[in-house]
Order: sequence, then C-alpha cells, then structure tokens
Amino acid sequence: MNTNSAQTFASFLQAHANLGMGSWNLGQGRRSWEAEKSALLTGLQLGLTVIDTAEMYGDGLSEALIGDALRDWPALERQPFLVSKVLPMNASRQGVKRAFEASRQRLGVDCIDLYLLHWRGNTPLAETVAALEELKAQGQIRHWGVSNFDTDDMQQLWQVPGGRNCVVNQVLYNVSSRGIEYELLPWCTQHGVTVMAYCPLGHGELIDHPLLREIGERHGATAAAVALAWVLRSGQVLAIPESGSADHVRDNARALQLKLGSEELALIEQYWPAPRFKEPLDIL
Ligand SMILES: NC(=O)c1ccc[n+]([C@@H]2O[C@H](COP(=O)([O-])OP(=O)(O)OC[C@H]3O[C@@H](n4cnc5c(N)ncnc54)[C@H](OP(=O)(O)O)[C@@H]3O)[C@@H](O)[C@H]2O)c1
Repeated sequence: MNTNSAQTFASFLQAHANLGMGSWNLGQGRRSWEAEKSALLTGLQLGLTVIDTAEMYGDGLSEALIGDALRDWPALERQPFLVSKVLPMNASRQGVKRAFEASRQRLGVDCIDLYLLHWRGNTPLAETVAALEELKAQGQIRHWGVSNFDTDDMQQLWQVPGGRNCVVNQVLYNVSSRGIEYELLPWCTQHGVTVMAYCPLGHGELIDHPLLREIGERHGATAAAVALAWVLRSGQVLAIPESGSADHVRDNARALQLKLGSEELALIEQYWPAPRFKEPLDIL
C-alpha cells in the first residue's frame, strides 16, 4: 500500500458520507432533466456528496446533467466529491488525457476528485497508471482508482510502477451478490483500497424484496434503505445507489441513520449466506 495515497483518501472518507449517488441512467430521458437534477440536488442537501459518473453513461449525458446540477449548487455549501471513469478503449497515455478533458468540461469543473479505469482492457496497466499519475501530478485529478478489478487484477496492479497509489476499487456488491467478501474485500482492506459498491440495490431488483421490506417496516424505512444500510454496515464500504427521483433519494438517505440489529443481520445472513469459496467477480 502507498501510505500517503491511502491516508489522504482516508481523510476524504471522514469528510463525506459513505453513501453517495450513482448516475448510469441519468440525463437520458427516463425522467425529465429537471426532475433528475432535483434528485441530485436533494441528495446533496441530505449529505450524499459523492457523485459517481462515467464518460460512458449516456455518452456524456450523465456528466452533463451533473454539471448542470452543480451550477445550481451554492458555492458556500460543501462541494461534492466527483467520481468519473475512463473507458478501457481510451486508457492509453494520450487517450486518458483526451477522455479526462472531455469529462472535465461536461462536468464544468477544474479538477475531478477521483478518476477510475472503468474496467480492464488491452492497454498495459503501466501505461494507464502513468497517464493517471500524470493527471494527478498536474492537479487535474485528486485521486485515481479502478473498477471491476478482481484480486488477481489488483495483485498485477500492485506490481506496476505507481500502481500502489490506487485508492478505490469500484465493484458490484449487494446483499444478494456477496462474492467479494471471500477474498477481494479483505485484500482491498489490507492494502488500503476503499471498496465502492455499485448496484447496491441489485440494479433495482432488491427494492421490493419481502425480507428487506419486513425488516424496513420495523424501522419505518423502505426495503431500499435496508439494502443500503446492510452494504454500509461495516463502515468500510461506500455505496452509490442511483435514483432519478427526489423521493427515492430521500428514502435512500435514511440508510445513513439505519443500524440493523444482530437478529436482522442474522435473518439476512440466513437468506443470503456469505460466500464459502472464491467466486468470479460479478459484473454488470
Ligand atoms: N463501475 C461499473 O462498472 C458500474 C456498473 C454499474 C453501475 N455503476 C454505478 O453504480 C450506480 C448504481 O448502480 P445501478 O444504477 O446499476 O443500480 P442500483 O443503484 O442498485 O439500482 C438503481 C435502480 O433502483 C431504483 N431505485 C433507487 N432507489 C430507489 C428507491 N428508494 N425506491 C425505489 N426504487 C429505487 C432506481 O430507479 P429510480 O430512478 O426510479 O429511483 C434504479 O432503477 C450506477 O448508477 C453507476 O453510477 C458502476
């Protein structure tokens, strides 16, 4: 682990809630532009200050929506922590710079807080890491990380010059997909890499689950809030649920106050047991 990178990032984590917001389908007409902007601004007001996006999402439309929302966010309020991602096909030395600049402009910011390699492609990791390190040295990004990397990918990254400056691995993790708990999550924890959980609501499939709903009723919360509270339960994992609805964002924010009891955790464990062997990384 590169102690400096990990420590700087750890101090960021203390300044932001572990619950952020995703944006894969935002800005693409599922709801009106204004309704989705309002969902993002509602989340910011509730302290969901980590916003995840990518050049891939709607070919830049998601970044453009976020940029538009940020123009309405008061400068004196806590500023969001922006995460964007470069596609593997743009992961060459020059490609990273071009993709970054386009994302930066759509977001309308000088600096992107965290820039991730979306998944591993054919460009050698050493070349991508060199490009990310250069952006960091120039102050254009604050941190960099990866996404959809399994343990063997992380081990290979650790052998590349500068690879240990990686601070995040963003992977699929939710109550019904726990494979990372066996090996990848402990590896990341041991090496100072924060795990950011995508699809924490199972891409929407968990929002009506009877067990989660029943537990939610005990707390006056929704099944979605229970699913999110479960992902956040260790305090070590950051979750980025997506919603284009201000009401749903309010529901989700409840997860920050929701502490699941040991009996409730046991019920969940019984229904979706922890992995007992290494499973391939789930990817959406
Ligand atoms: N790195 C990667 O490869 C990768 C892959 C996938 C996703 N991601 C990131 O992770 C984010 C989250 O993942 P995801 O969008 O796939 O899935 P998700 O967050 O698990 O689920 C999103 C779905 O749940 C619905 N929803 C959210 N809150 C709700 C609530 N309180 N009540 C009812 N429905 C609710 C949303 O619809 P409504 O809009 O109607 O609320 C949406 O359809 C993405 O947006 C993206 O930023 C990254």
